[in-house]
Amino acid sequence: MSTSEPAAGGISDQDRTIPDDAEFERLLAVAREIAERAYTPYSHFRVGAAGLTEDGRLVRGCNVENAGYGVTLCAECGMISELIAGGGGRLRRFVCVGGDEQLRREERGVVMPCGRCRQLLSEHAAPDLVILTPEGPRGMDAVLPQAFGPADLLP
Ligand code: THU
Repeated sequence: MSTSEPAAGGISDQDRTIPDDAEFERLLAVAREIAERAYTPYSHFRVGAAGLTEDGRLVRGCNVENAGYGVTLCAECGMISELIAGGGGRLRRFVCVGGDEQLRREERGVVMPCGRCRQLLSEHAAPDLVILTPEGPRGMDAVLPQAFGPADLLP
């Protein structure tokens, strides 16, 4: 495939390697730091999520578990709450990291958002959102193909 062709999710190969590096380095650091604050007495799996909005705001969140296991809030839930509480807007970069409490902050690896959180991200994604995945940067369409969205609710 030529480097100018759009890849899965509409992100060109060129976009995969350039300007994201510095931004993702920063987002990874923020995600690893916020993961330290996660409340995970049950899974011990700390997750940190970090995103960058189109207008340059940094938003983040960590997972918050609950004795009613199904009530658990994923890290992305906190991050999206912060996005909306801070004025809304759309995400253009996103990453989440996770690992159990044996792992030191700098060792927590990139993890995929769960299915529910992909849906959350989809609602607030800029058209050119890039998600850093364990397999590299991907567009929203690549991680949630044929997403159900606001347009489906229109008459
Ligand atoms: N978790 C997240 O915070 N985000 C995800 O996208 C995947 C899962 C959390 C929920 C739970 O506290 C722990 O990871 C183990 O599932």
